[in-house]
Amino acid sequence: MRISFLIALPAIFFQSIAWGQSANIDRKVDSVLALMTLDEKIGQLNQLSSDFVATGPITPDGDKQDRVRQGKVGSYLNMTGAARTRSLQAIAMQSRLKIPLLFAQDVIHGYRTIFPIPLAEAASWDLSIIERSARIAAIEAAACGIHWTFAPMVDIARDPRWGRVMEGAGEDTYLGSLIATARVKGFQGKGLGSLDAVMACAKHFAAYGAAEGGRDYNTTDMSLRRLHEVYLPPFKAAADAGVASFMNSFNDINGIPATGSSYLQRTLLKGDWKFNGLVVSDWGSIGEMINHGYAADMTDAAKKAITAGSDIDMESRAYAGQLADLIKRKEVNESVIDDAVRRVLRKKFELGLFDDPYRFSDEAREKAAWNAPEHRQAAREMARKSIVLLRNDSIKKISKPILPLSNVSGKKIALIGPLVKAIGDNNGFWSYSWPDDSTRIVSLWNGMENKLGSTKNLSYAKGCELTGSDTSGFAAARLAARRSDIVVISVGETGNMSGEAKSRSDLKLPGMQEQLVKEMVATGKPVVVLISAGRPLVFNWISENVPSIVYTWWLGTEAGNAIADVLFGDYNPSGKLPMTFPRSEGQIPIYYNHFNTGRPFKNDTDNIYVTAYTDLRNSPRYPFGYGLSYSKFEYGKIVLSADSMSVGGSIRAKVTITNSGTYAGEEVVQLYIQDVAASLVRPVRELKGFQKIRLAPGESREIEFVITEKELAFYQEDLRFMAEPGQFRVFIGGSSAAEEGISFWLKAR
Ligand code: NOJ
Repeated sequence: MRISFLIALPAIFFQSIAWGQSANIDRKVDSVLALMTLDEKIGQLNQLSSDFVATGPITPDGDKQDRVRQGKVGSYLNMTGAARTRSLQAIAMQSRLKIPLLFAQDVIHGYRTIFPIPLAEAASWDLSIIERSARIAAIEAAACGIHWTFAPMVDIARDPRWGRVMEGAGEDTYLGSLIATARVKGFQGKGLGSLDAVMACAKHFAAYGAAEGGRDYNTTDMSLRRLHEVYLPPFKAAADAGVASFMNSFNDINGIPATGSSYLQRTLLKGDWKFNGLVVSDWGSIGEMINHGYAADMTDAAKKAITAGSDIDMESRAYAGQLADLIKRKEVNESVIDDAVRRVLRKKFELGLFDDPYRFSDEAREKAAWNAPEHRQAAREMARKSIVLLRNDSIKKISKPILPLSNVSGKKIALIGPLVKAIGDNNGFWSYSWPDDSTRIVSLWNGMENKLGSTKNLSYAKGCELTGSDTSGFAAARLAARRSDIVVISVGETGNMSGEAKSRSDLKLPGMQEQLVKEMVATGKPVVVLISAGRPLVFNWISENVPSIVYTWWLGTEAGNAIADVLFGDYNPSGKLPMTFPRSEGQIPIYYNHFNTGRPFKNDTDNIYVTAYTDLRNSPRYPFGYGLSYSKFEYGKIVLSADSMSVGGSIRAKVTITNSGTYAGEEVVQLYIQDVAASLVRPVRELKGFQKIRLAPGESREIEFVITEKELAFYQEDLRFMAEPGQFRVFIGGSSAAEEGISFWLKAR
């Protein structure tokens, strides 16, 4: 294969390949570039989607394969499977220069083995298992010809109305940056060129998560300081971790569509950050600059995008249609095109595609990787770690909490609700369906059956659908509940209710589901509610009236097994919320690291002239970082190694944590810092460190955090990142609501 591929190439190219893999890729790239016509160069910047999977509005576009044959397409998205990618690659091999195609796909949370949605994974606060999840996704995707995943999404999201919160790591910049790094490392493994590595893509650059009103694709407007402080660090972390590509975003920022932003793509990314990977537009986002009112027509859009640093045009056809004329008219310099093409070719060389364009399309490897039992095992482990226990109060009847259910072995359990037997929903948005899903995906019902070894003590009633107003199933649900000792109710969104273009203004449980829960509580039986969703939902009545509540997000292939592990105590829940849960949509945006106002709300005064709602509390339903365990963790007093430190120095903060419960368990110990007075207003607190520890019953451990200038620094008005001398308050605890801060001073040198 390698030989026949090379024979057709001109001598200069042959010579460049003879240098071997380790030779200087840039020189190889230049030697290919030297052979290319302008049309062939533009072809490398043109990305088309297959009609096989649609992840955007497909434009009917004649014979796409013929374009591949003519060298007019450089990359293809949504073409999956070893056989399909191989056959399209074979068509690319009929083009004059035989430049291989790049195959891209949104492999967001697993490919064949589906892992929890990214927001759920973030709830684990476990970087190594998150990295492993991405690693396994890469192994499975790479084996079927995919070279490039459009992940991780590293957008900070503070608005649960935005459907794409499911796809990121939540609201916090510090946690989000660490998770961005872990995911990039996972996807890219030992580096491009390994057969099990795929190119990662940090998206959506930038501030897509700040869409006004939480409405997808909407405008964003913010100070440069906020952009740098809150939204950009996860992108910088991805770049520092060696991410191969960036995708720009649909939104405009301060009036300039991100796709046309030279500041973001040229000044920051390719300039200050020295990023030498490639930048792909989002689907159609070059052409959409016309709708934004930022480009007069496709020609103007193409010119603005390429000038601003968008290297590849995904599905706008703007580059394919307009760039050649723009160059002829000298409105765009060919060196701009050359730079973009070099970035694309470099990745193709790094992936080893010039050596063997089919190296990733291997049906035998595809089959083996897809059915690896260790992938499922890892998916179950990841899913267990993603689950968040929101409430588990003692109930009178048994004078202890209902969970774990091992407390009540042998009792009859009624499984009620529209999601008990759900299969496909468990995968959530951004996942692929496979013909054997119905036997591969573990529903809650199957997970419970697997756990108990039979369905003897289980009964089931759906109660109602996920949506709609039909309550005719309530009577059967009531009957099943009355005949049981415990009622476990599984409610939530449908798996597709969160995701792209899935913004919601109403975050309550859809349909009659809350009513169903009320009916079950009214039976007087002990009730556990499981909530599956792709975002924080609003469920006040349940929060206040149901003693045990478990947030299960969408957990993927192993969902049912993982939930059963947690319900029965085979895994002690340790997840912590990566987003604040509001009491009402009216509180949004609500996030823990907000600024104070000149009139902060205080619980203990009658002063009404404070920042507050007249009809709603300020506090969230559940704060960022919150999550319970079957263990009970007690925090001692924070002890600082000194009461001041100088610029350039450090200070240690110690605290002892004790597991005073009867189960071994894990706790995420979180460090928050507040800059008390500064030249700019600072957040009330910010996450600056965390450690996930495991403690046996009765065990105590002293945890230490080292605080340096970096943890105290922030973006000044002129965007310099530096700490200011003054007072800092430290909080350590099991959530962002940790109390009892202690302070120290940073002294000027
Ligand atoms: C649009 C989405 O915004 C982006 O995240 C995705 O990668 C592309 N479509 C391709 O599916």
